[in-house]
Amino acid sequence: MSNPTPPTILPSILSADFARAGDDIADALSLCWANQVGGDVIHVDVMDGHLVPNISLGQPVIASLRKIFPDVFFDTHLMIDEPVRYAESMVKAGADRLTIHIESPEVKSNPIEACKAISKLGVKVGITLKPGTPIESIEPILDHVDLVLIMSVEPGFGGQKFMPAMLEKCRWIKAKMRADQILEIDGGINHESIGLARQAGVDWFVVGSALFDAKDRAQTAKDLAHSIRP
Ligand code: DX5
Ligand code: ZN
Repeated sequence: MSNPTPPTILPSILSADFARAGDDIADALSLCWANQVGGDVIHVDVMDGHLVPNISLGQPVIASLRKIFPDVFFDTHLMIDEPVRYAESMVKAGADRLTIHIESPEVKSNPIEACKAISKLGVKVGITLKPGTPIESIEPILDHVDLVLIMSVEPGFGGQKFMPAMLEKCRWIKAKMRADQILEIDGGINHESIGLARQAGVDWFVVGSALFDAKDRAQTAKDLAHSIRP
């Protein structure tokens, strides 16, 4: 599966209604597609209650979604202590990219090895960091990843307020990235913050509550797209 061309909006399924997840996600994807800002990629948040103070979903949910979305790219954000340990089962379930946290105990000690172990499974690898972690910490592993994800809220929950100070991290790392690497942002992205993030060099925009909880989803998708489409 190839990557969609930036700029792209990734519906964060954490904010979907899981009683009707397939329909809810399909609706969000079709709005991204209609506005030419994606429609073939979703963001999947996996949490273990250790690296972040919440528990979300795991391999069975990913596998079920994979059955109904065979051609969608699953951008999978692993907020877990042991992303390498669980990588193979995530890939088997249907993940296309595994984005790992530099703070995960299993990653912190040897981030390059962690990236290599995941690449060997035949999927793409992303690196991410919590708001309080200095951006310089990921520079040494930049050559080993396809994507850098800047967290613009404390990871763990949807619906939080965007942290504008994270824009400086975006600008700093973007200047060091190759043209084929993707810069992604996650947390508090709405019709205002999305434009600021675009100006700071972001290619992929994770959007959870702003899209799924919108009173008028169609208009919201239009507004979001308007701020980032060339
Ligand atoms: C938070 C997750 C996000 C979350 C974003 O830890 O990584 O992907 O779903 O939700 P919003 O867009 O509501 O901030
Ligand atoms: Zn996420």
